[in-house]
Amino acid sequence: MPFKRNILCIGAGYVGGPTMAMIAFKCPQYKVTVVDINPERIAQWNSDNLPIYEPGLDQVVRAARGRNLFFSTEIEKGIQESDVIFVSVNTPTKTFGAGAGMAADLQYWDKTAREIRKYSRSNKIIVEKSTLPVKTAQAMERILTCADTALCFDVLSNPEFLAEGTAIQNLENPDRVLIGSAQSAEGICARDVLVEIYANWVPREKIITSNIWSSELSKLVANAFLAQRISSVNSISALCEKADADVQEVARAVGMDSRVGAKFLNASVGFGGSCFKKDILNLVYICRYYDLREVADYWEGVVKINEYQKERFILNMLQVMFNTLAGKKICLFGFAFKADTGDTRESPAIQIAKRLMEERAELVITDPKAIYNAEEDLKGAIGNVTYVEDPCDAAAGCCAIAVMTEWPLYKNLDYREIYRKMAKPAFIFDGRNILDHEALHNMGFNVFPIGKPPLTHF
Ligand code: UDX
Ligand code: ADP
Repeated sequence: MPFKRNILCIGAGYVGGPTMAMIAFKCPQYKVTVVDINPERIAQWNSDNLPIYEPGLDQVVRAARGRNLFFSTEIEKGIQESDVIFVSVNTPTKTFGAGAGMAADLQYWDKTAREIRKYSRSNKIIVEKSTLPVKTAQAMERILTCADTALCFDVLSNPEFLAEGTAIQNLENPDRVLIGSAQSAEGICARDVLVEIYANWVPREKIITSNIWSSELSKLVANAFLAQRISSVNSISALCEKADADVQEVARAVGMDSRVGAKFLNASVGFGGSCFKKDILNLVYICRYYDLREVADYWEGVVKINEYQKERFILNMLQVMFNTLAGKKICLFGFAFKADTGDTRESPAIQIAKRLMEERAELVITDPKAIYNAEEDLKGAIGNVTYVEDPCDAAAGCCAIAVMTEWPLYKNLDYREIYRKMAKPAFIFDGRNILDHEALHNMGFNVFPIGKPPLTHF
């Protein structure tokens, strides 16, 4: 039986892979092909060892792969055969030239637009999935339609709101699906095609539509608001440490106000991930472009507090460990930017590891899913670092443990045994406030949580 529609996704990463797997899983009537320039990535998607760790992803891929879900490197063929093309190539922060460190690097995205134009033989609906600065859909349309062609390209914005570690849940049962389109008759028509795809499993009232720029901006603003909550509570954690208050008690009291809500108020060593910093800096860049200095400064403050929080964590370690870390073995519990992912992009652990190495500490890094990425991130950093699978073995002989990631397994380790094997005095810096601080203190540890008084034996 022929498929009702041919859907292509360009970019088989954290966004494209799971999103397309879910569409294929929910809509057997569509053929979904995911292409990428990286043949190794495609080979992994076609193997039992998927290139990303995401709870529940294996089952979804296994159910649809070979049936109506295909991973391939044949970009040209993929473009020619499809009528809807999702673009989810990487758009990291620029590292060079104008806007370096701030603006989005659009080279992969630009190349993709040109490939679509080059290989297309029929009309297409193009769906922006990558996080992009506002008004890139318009730029995409300009690239696509500038050539001498009778083809018609309708560009839609459909930002992803999935969080790593819960991507499958977020895709299966999203809070909302946002689709931005041109308000012309063609734009609305293209939008309705995408609405119909999602409506296969998402309740209609959760599929919202808007103009294309509102949609693009909403993505940046949603992430800026989430990150702002974390920076807000992290800024208060610094005050709590001085004022003998407990940031978890404060967050609980504040979050119980239904107007505020309880989520995203966990003080931490800082937020990471591929989106928050990038999206806020994008927002700041746009505001500066429009000469809205106060607005830009306001949002930049969210990133600044995040940098401050990481630096504060390091300086506190240095100070309480007698102002020298040289030659001391320090164990990092976790390297991923959060639990349930092997992703380490923008993980606070990267900066903290590098700073500890600058202080000439010897690092031992453990993480259930991210050791490979940690090695990549620290390639070329000068200093002594080893990687150990088992957290109890990793901590042996160390003066300190610093919890970087809230992996639940760290809550239930045999800390009595760990304490026995560590150098004394033994320190724990709980960058995620996940451990039982009182119990650890009673075992002999000197415990330094985030945003509450330390428990020491000095
Ligand atoms: C985020 C958004 O949540 C998602 O909607 C968007 O599509 C992509 O960006 P993600 O980066 O996967 O998702 O992770 P998220 O769960 O938002 O966590 C980001 C960072 O904030 C992590 O480092 C996490 O540990 C940290 N965090 C989160 C805190 O420090 N405290 C909190 O209370 C919550
Ligand atoms: P994200 O988190 O946004 O999904 P990733 O880096 O995980 O980002 O994935 C982006 C993917 O896009 C990578 O696998 C990369 O190889 C792929 N990619 C980049 N440029 C192109 C291109 N021109 N054609 C096809 N795939 C591309």
